[in-house]
Amino acid sequence: MNAIISFLKQRRSVMIRKLEPHPLPETDLLSILECGSRVPDHGMLSPWKIIVIAGDQRKKLGQSCLRSEFAKLNPEATDAMLEFEEKRFEQASVVLCVISKPVDHHKIPKWEMHLSAGAVCQNLLIASLALGYGAQWVTHWYSYNEKMLQTLGGDPATDKIAGFIYIGKKTIEPNERNRPNISKVIVRYGEKHEEG
Ligand SMILES: Cc1cc2nc3c(=O)[nH]c(=O)nc-3n(C[C@H](O)[C@H](O)[C@H](O)COP(=O)(O)O)c2cc1C
Repeated sequence: MNAIISFLKQRRSVMIRKLEPHPLPETDLLSILECGSRVPDHGMLSPWKIIVIAGDQRKKLGQSCLRSEFAKLNPEATDAMLEFEEKRFEQASVVLCVISKPVDHHKIPKWEMHLSAGAVCQNLLIASLALGYGAQWVTHWYSYNEKMLQTLGGDPATDKIAGFIYIGKKTIEPNERNRPNISKVIVRYGEKHEEG
């Protein structure tokens, strides 16, 4: 079978807790970023940004944003919970945040720009997995946090975080996950569709 098709048919995310934050060689990071920025994009607007959170910045952002914002949102949070939030990004070698930044356009709807940002996330994920890393696309609570969005250069009036891609060394091969029954999600137009 074609190697890419075979990879795509078996590809599986690796949960963040199954990652180790070994340093990611710069050449691999650049390959991942190049794949992430090569996506379908109506009108060539590049209506997104990829923010690389690496090295000490993982810890700094954890202290300056994750911990403090979580504490603000959860006044009852225990020290252990705050500690976990602070160290979240340090679970991965690198965390990539994709911010969807739609622009005003006379023809292209903003919805299509958000979809393009989703394609960036998927390409970053696929490229990371293809290089043998473990990776996961998550949003968690902090994708919807205004301070996080602003800290990473987004404008809350227009922009949205499409996701954070955690990349690291995988400590274990992931188990298969239940997948949709193809006959339930694919409709051949004009033929009777199996419901449910
Ligand atoms: C936009 C988006 C946000 C997600 N956010 C989370 C999340 O916050 N927490 C989580 O456990 N999984 C989240 N997921 C799901 C996982 O990243 C992933 O889809 C799942 O583990 C299976 O992925 P796979 O098909 O690559 O194996 C999200 C997926 C998408 C597309």
